[in-house]
Amino acid sequence: MLDAGFVHTYIDTHLEQRQVNKIQHGFPSPRYWSRTDVPVEEIAEDRRRVRAAGRDSFVNFYVGVPYCIQTDPGKCGYCLFPVEEFQGNAALENYFGYVEREADLYREALSGATLGAVYFGGGTSNLYREPLYHRLMDLVRGLFPDIAPQADITLEGIPQLFSRAKMQAIKDSGMNRVSMGIQQVDERLNKLSGRKQTTRHVVQSLEWARELGLAANVDLIFGWPQQTVGTMLKDLQTLVSWNVYDITHYELNVGGPTDFALNRFHELPSTLANLEMYRASRDFLTDQGYEQITAYNFRKPGDPAGRGYEEGVNRFLDSMDTVGLGYAAVSFFGNSAIGTDRSWSFINHLSLPRYKQALEEGRFPVERGFSHEAADWRLAMLFRSLFGLTVNRADYRAAFGTDVYEEFATVWDGLGEYGFVEVSDEEVGLVGDGPFYTPMVQALLAEERYRALRERETRAAQARRAARRARRTGTDGDGAGTEEVVASPGTGAPADTEAPADAEAAAATPARG
Ligand SMILES: C[S@@+](CC[C@H](N)C(=O)[O-])C[C@H]1O[C@@H](n2cnc3c(N)ncnc32)[C@H](O)[C@@H]1O
Ligand code: SF4
Repeated sequence: MLDAGFVHTYIDTHLEQRQVNKIQHGFPSPRYWSRTDVPVEEIAEDRRRVRAAGRDSFVNFYVGVPYCIQTDPGKCGYCLFPVEEFQGNAALENYFGYVEREADLYREALSGATLGAVYFGGGTSNLYREPLYHRLMDLVRGLFPDIAPQADITLEGIPQLFSRAKMQAIKDSGMNRVSMGIQQVDERLNKLSGRKQTTRHVVQSLEWARELGLAANVDLIFGWPQQTVGTMLKDLQTLVSWNVYDITHYELNVGGPTDFALNRFHELPSTLANLEMYRASRDFLTDQGYEQITAYNFRKPGDPAGRGYEEGVNRFLDSMDTVGLGYAAVSFFGNSAIGTDRSWSFINHLSLPRYKQALEEGRFPVERGFSHEAADWRLAMLFRSLFGLTVNRADYRAAFGTDVYEEFATVWDGLGEYGFVEVSDEEVGLVGDGPFYTPMVQALLAEERYRALRERETRAAQARRAARRARRTGTDGDGAGTEEVVASPGTGAPADTEAPADAEAAAATPARG
């Protein structure tokens, strides 16, 4: 257990530091996903075994698109996701042909599986032309012939690329929800990202969705360059006045060689200003009747088109099965019925040529992954549950045989002193500013395990060096640990500063990186 003094110092020194969101991949960070020998067939076999034993959970399904329209500055000035510049419909449809091939590889493994939710994300999934929405749903039905009526099937896109005809095709194909990346309603602030979105695009897209009975979610970002509590509240007021039921309000993740990090850093609100924005947005939305579902998601009850979808939350502590198809898509598989040390997180190729080449050769296009030990799996599930703001102590005990409070008592007690956490007999919950500090809470919970993983990496690196020396000198090296870390961590890895964007894709679906 972490030393109480360490916990205090950690919290004190991190209160004013920028929160770097790691929600997308749960635990551990993709930096540690270094196994290049991910046994996808074995994982498929495990999936079949739990199904045969009647212990399978539903499968969440994600399909990604690599492409986005060009902006100036590039990548919308802030985006940390791997994306490629849109090269036209022919390239997009050619890419989709590869996704269909990948789906074929999964067909047998998924036979008889129950679908949970579907997320078509990216990149920009509303770049597709009308007929492609039907093909996307044909692909889903080909793998999951029985789709439950309550399954959420979401397509993500940007307002200026929706049209009435596309929205109609989305509806007719059987999808039932759209998610729009708006970021800022304020046109002046939005322009800083190089996106050419107008308020008209946003209003029009929301109207089409409503007219056609599609549930509509919007993504906003706070902590934007030049943003103030005032401009943020004005945007939220506008969305509330348009009767948007489902609002995702992300804090900006800053990092990498993005325009915001390199050229607008001085225009960014400080962490404490972001905290003020978090508080003001939470209070405003809850006053308006919205419920806080996660650190970032707010939903108003009574959406005639909604089905109670909880983006990014996994309420089950004993299983997770998410299948991600496409460029840079992420998959997770684990089920306590087969032993938690057989669970995996893995990511598809982040290089489009390599993604395609693998499929041409009939291979799963997986780049690398992480094999969980029991402690990793437990943390991964704890993170997912905590993203939904609470962890049920009885459920945790049933899944892992330990009490979640006792296991991390010094962390919860330390956070409790700052008013970030409340512990009752039933649950441990994030309260007050706690949800804003979710990344810090996660870091504390994972601190001991990260120390162990870092030690393992160091040992593996030493073993690799010894083996190289031995090869050079012709003597036997100590190869211990080399099977654990095949590629050195960080090689080709997505930025450690992953954006939260696909939090929705992550648990509700297997997000991509
Ligand atoms: C990866 S994007 C894909 C959807 C679509 N291309 C778009 O831009 O709206 C999904 C969401 O991620 C969020 N996002 C992207 N980069 C982010 C960052 N650096 N910090 C916080 N949120 C980010 C945005 O809110 C965006 O709507
Ligand atoms: S924010 Fe969306 S549109 Fe912009 S680069 Fe990222 S994925 Fe593409």
